Amino acid sequence: MAFELSNTVPWGRNLNEYRSMFRLTEEDLNKRIIGFGDGPASFNAQMTQLRKSVVSIDPIYRFTVAELEQRINQTKGIVMEQIKNNVDKFVWTKIRTLEELEAIRLAAMSHFLEDFEKGKQEFRYLDHELPARTTFEDLSFELGLSSHFLLLYSQLGLDFHLSTLTEMLRLCKQVRIFPILNLNAEQSELLVHVMKRFALNFTVEIVNVEYQFQRNGNQMLQITHR
Ligand SMILES: C[S@@+](CC[C@H](N)C(=O)[O-])C[C@H]1O[C@@H](n2cnc3c(N)ncnc32)[C@H](O)[C@@H]1O
Repeated sequence: MAFELSNTVPWGRNLNEYRSMFRLTEEDLNKRIIGFGDGPASFNAQMTQLRKSVVSIDPIYRFTVAELEQRINQTKGIVMEQIKNNVDKFVWTKIRTLEELEAIRLAAMSHFLEDFEKGKQEFRYLDHELPARTTFEDLSFELGLSSHFLLLYSQLGLDFHLSTLTEMLRLCKQVRIFPILNLNAEQSELLVHVMKRFALNFTVEIVNVEYQFQRNGNQMLQITHR
């Protein structure tokens, strides 16, 4: 099925959020990093400003700035309404109100949009739909990150997850996935299967992190080459 803009709901997080979701240390920030499904997050833009090395891959990067901006404007109200109807599923300590949440997300996405054309020219934003094989060589990256993509969309199925993770681990010495919950804020039903499969050849760990917005969503999955 073609990846249609009308089926996407762009929603992006910022560098501070990535740091606390993935427990990124100063040493981690200096690694060669790839973000899988980074979408309209400002992680790549902010890291580039700090002269760090990040490549982001996502099928939404085939669209133009104008198309993405229009889609963000079309969908932001719908996303905020869904969160408003499910306020109990979130923890309102760091982000205290719906208004603050919307402001943080829109600021991250507008930072991304400002950086997008330049980043595409610099091959920092690559249009790519996983699990298809990328053109990168084995172990091109020290660290691979998946924020709110793998495990969260459990309806994509176990085969999709296993193939996608196989490609991610071909590229990266270590992969970190946050959260390990599904969209209902329950532990992703795929987690045990994924852990079992990769534990055969990799070190697989669940790591506690500081970040928590989805209730009980304060853990990441970390998979490392032995
Ligand atoms: C909820 S957004 C998360 C964006 C960003 N990582 C963040 O946390 O702010 C999920 C992203 O996964 C991307 N995505 C969906 N299917 C994908 C696939 N098959 N390969 C790569 N990215 C995909 C979507 O386009 C979207 O940008």
